[in-house]
Amino acid sequence: MSDGSVLIVDDEKNIRGILKTFLEENGYDVCATDKFKNISKFQDMDIVLLDVRLPDANGIDSIHVIKELFPYSEIIIITAYEKDAQSAVKAMKNGAFDYLVKPFKLDELLFVINNAMEKVALKRENEELRSAVNNMKNGFYDMVGLSSEMRSVYDQIKRVSTSNITVLIEGESGTGKELCAKTIHEISKRKGKFIAINCAAIPDNLLESELFGYEKGAFSGATSTKKGLLEEADFGSVFLDEIGDMPIELQAKMLRFLEGFELRRLGVNKIKKVDVRIIAATNKNLADAVKSGAFREDLFYRLSGFIIKIPPLRKRKEDIPLLVKHILSSIEKRDKKKYSLTSQALKALILYDYPGNIRELYNIINQSAIMSDGTISYEILPKYVLSSDNGYMDTVGGSLDDKVENYEKQIIIDALKKADGVKMKAAKILGVSFRSLRYKIKKYNIK
Ligand SMILES: Nc1ncnc2c1ncn2[C@@H]1O[C@H](COP(=O)(O)OP(=O)(O)OP(=O)(O)O)[C@@H](O)[C@H]1O
Ligand SMILES: [Mg+2]
Repeated sequence: MSDGSVLIVDDEKNIRGILKTFLEENGYDVCATDKFKNISKFQDMDIVLLDVRLPDANGIDSIHVIKELFPYSEIIIITAYEKDAQSAVKAMKNGAFDYLVKPFKLDELLFVINNAMEKVALKRENEELRSAVNNMKNGFYDMVGLSSEMRSVYDQIKRVSTSNITVLIEGESGTGKELCAKTIHEISKRKGKFIAINCAAIPDNLLESELFGYEKGAFSGATSTKKGLLEEADFGSVFLDEIGDMPIELQAKMLRFLEGFELRRLGVNKIKKVDVRIIAATNKNLADAVKSGAFREDLFYRLSGFIIKIPPLRKRKEDIPLLVKHILSSIEKRDKKKYSLTSQALKALILYDYPGNIRELYNIINQSAIMSDGTISYEILPKYVLSSDNGYMDTVGGSLDDKVENYEKQIIIDALKKADGVKMKAAKILGVSFRSLRYKIKKYNIK
């Protein structure tokens, strides 16, 4: 571990060389550049040593740009010109940590850098604490759930986010693979974009040009040059969803890409190196696909350096109440309306097994909220959810009469649903008179 990172922005080659060597000897990671416009190429630096007179910018006027780019950084202005009080004052006003005039003693510089670094470390620590508190209430970042299964997923996300290692996320449909990928990207603080592409949704012959891009005239129809997503996401992350469906020829090309992160648009020879983080996902068992020959073994090994398995919702049912709460509050925000859920409805939701996982839970609650007058009751939930609730009859009332009444109530509700709420029709379905049905509806307080 280094003591921190320092970026030197100075147009004098000598100065860059001397400072770099000196600071590296003192335990810092050092990068250097001669032009201001290059600074966006660096990732999250701690300290920036900034010359005032740069060929393409004035250092003092550019302090805010650096602060935006590296939010935790401290900036130390260095200048060859005699410390004129005005520019020193302006530098400090603009948020610089300190101001040094060349020639300065290297020890003096080190002293200032060490102090600035302490401040940066403190800022980072505070931020970590703040985000840990904010993000652990119901889960982790946007991921809700506190089950031990999900805590282990969060741990893995944390561990993998600090590196650029390729990650494979496995999980059934709707378990949150894409959300997990987004979280990894967010925590990793990569400056580029997060771009998702679904390998199963794009026709085989287009997937390659989507990913790698093409030069004008590379094939008929290529009327202009287009960057591929892998290039578009430079300094960011690419999410390759349903990687198991990537055509086998393209798998070979993907493997070569992963070996050197060099890419070539279709129709050109020029190679470009990119800095992208690949996160792949699959809802199939890739090891099986390898056995059947549908997936290249070498690519599988390359991808499986770090595998995160997201468990299906039915294996972590204790997350359901938190998820329901989360989903309801997001619907409330959307509809600007309050919703509540009866405990019986919640129990049924916990008993159900969710083949479509969290996405299905979203749909069920959304649909039920629309059907409800603000209270989502057991009766409003979709039938297929209720049918897994075998304990229904046992949960309500103790006596036989109570049970019979509840059973009757349920039958009437079902009939009303079938009849689209038309009582006359429901009465026909049930084989009772309209009046008797109306009486029961009142008695059971059915809405
Ligand atoms: N832990 C979670 N907390 C809150 N919302 C979640 C969680 N997991 C998933 N979701 C939500 O559920 C929906 C489905 O998640 P996502 O698209 O990430 O699943 P997926 O595994 O990529 O599914 P598929 O295999 O069908 O593509 C999204 O709306 C997502 O925001
Ligand atoms: Mg997905």
